[in-house]
Amino acid sequence: MKTLDYLNLNEVKVANVVASLQNLLADFQVYYTNLRGFHWEIKGRGFFVLHEKFESMYDDAAAKIDEIAERILMLGGTPENKFSNYLKVARIPEVSGVSTSRDSVDNILNTYKHFMAEERKLIDLANEANDVVTADLLTGYLKEQEKMVWMLIAFSTKNCCETK
Ligand SMILES: [Fe+2]
Repeated sequence: MKTLDYLNLNEVKVANVVASLQNLLADFQVYYTNLRGFHWEIKGRGFFVLHEKFESMYDDAAAKIDEIAERILMLGGTPENKFSNYLKVARIPEVSGVSTSRDSVDNILNTYKHFMAEERKLIDLANEANDVVTADLLTGYLKEQEKMVWMLIAFSTKNCCETK
């Protein structure tokens, strides 16, 4: 008895979706640990804002990690849980020692750029397999990330009266 049989999805067709979700899971795990580092190491005038913000962002990443892993299970795969294996396939680098607002926000913006490109590819793959639920899940991530990019850029933009 398999979940896929009840979902009316084809195991062969969703195999590409599962493989891509595994890579996205690895990326999110690295992103999550990078955010923990930013939360701990941030210094300077942005501390109180960014320390809290990074905590809410890693909590959000943790929720998405669980959603991606459970979607892999629904599609007949087994989500990877070993961090050593995440590092073999993750496409975003681990970072440490990031303590400034600019460097942490720049890192997050670049990570989001990567996520949004990969999620768009994954949405196409999911649609090819008639997997509208995965496509919808990732469209929701895209919607949140596009808004977060706008907010992070607004946060990073100096106004006329700032000297530094
Ligand atoms: Fe904390």
